[in-house]
Amino acid sequence: MTLPRHALLAAAAALAVSTAPAVHAQAAGPLKVGLMLPYTGTYAALGNAIENGFRLYIAEQGGKLGGREIAFVKVDDESDPAKATDNVNKLIKRDNVDVLVGTVHSGVVAGMAKAAKDSGTMLIVPNAGADAVTGPMCAKHIFRSSFSNWQPGYAMGEVVAKKGHKKVVTITWKYAAGDESVGGFKESFTKAGGQIVKELTVPFPNVEFQALLTEIASIKPDAVYTFFAGGGAVKFVKDYAAAGLKKTIPLYGAGFLTDGTLDAQGADADGLLTTLHYGDSLDTPRDKSFRLAYATAYKLQPDVYAVQGYDAAQMLGIGLAATKGDIAKKAEFAAALEKARIDSPRGAFTIGKSHNPVQDIYLRQVVGKENKVVGVASKALADPGRGCRM
Ligand code: PHB
Repeated sequence: MTLPRHALLAAAAALAVSTAPAVHAQAAGPLKVGLMLPYTGTYAALGNAIENGFRLYIAEQGGKLGGREIAFVKVDDESDPAKATDNVNKLIKRDNVDVLVGTVHSGVVAGMAKAAKDSGTMLIVPNAGADAVTGPMCAKHIFRSSFSNWQPGYAMGEVVAKKGHKKVVTITWKYAAGDESVGGFKESFTKAGGQIVKELTVPFPNVEFQALLTEIASIKPDAVYTFFAGGGAVKFVKDYAAAGLKKTIPLYGAGFLTDGTLDAQGADADGLLTTLHYGDSLDTPRDKSFRLAYATAYKLQPDVYAVQGYDAAQMLGIGLAATKGDIAKKAEFAAALEKARIDSPRGAFTIGKSHNPVQDIYLRQVVGKENKVVGVASKALADPGRGCRM
């Protein structure tokens, strides 16, 4: 296959940008982006996909946003909340970054948001769904390019209720992301008359599921709802099938359960229904060109994390274009994003009052190696932003 010229250029630029020497910087100097992401542990693949997506967009812009070259400083946060404050302060105080981009884990992002608020540093969150970031911790200079934990869960509660299921068991990691994903599910599912008969949890990042799967088998609910992601999601889907549950008790999840994981899950994921703000078969010109450019640059298929990284860079670009590269102009930066329509591979979205994406949540079904979009579970779903006062 011959690749279109733009895809080749983007690929070459994506690879070149990481080594671009600082001597090419403009008078203002390069804008320093502090990437705080997990590069080790159960979420390592997610961190890498986010960075790839972020770099791809910048490469497509010729290496500059708002007229500024972009320089990177990176920290591996290991998805460890106990190290979050130290890690983010390395970027803020030691490296003097202009903007923080991170992270994946909801417990870690809480430390980042606090440090961003205390220091006034711009923060763009390319994954972590912690409801508080666009709730009680919201701020004019904090934005999210991904989702709130509540969003996919809430959309799935309606889907599962419409399927006629009455009694559901939930199972997840015991931390903010799991709790809030289940919280969103529970809100819409119980509103529609459903009942949560048991809420099961394991500590993060534990993957010893056997005892809990035995418990699910003995409860015999109509269905199970789950939040797991990354390496943990791979193990959970495989264990659920191996325990014989896949044939008897339908499993539903927030889409992270099957995103970026299908190669490793194989047939054990086949047929699973999940809700998420992205899918593999959107078939729009925007998504197709993104997927081609990403695959060309990295020899990998993109997933939701790559899209969120790409869109974090788009959002930074929109803010910097409005401020002509001056990130200290926080009010202008925020005003530009608040009225923007972000041309995402997922479909265009806007940024709500609390700075979380207002977006369609798709219903997807695993078919082979794809999360095939089978419908829109929730159109233009906005996080309620409870507790946000700016
Ligand atoms: C989170 O901790 O907020 C989180 C982590 C991984 C995901 C989604 C949410 O895939």
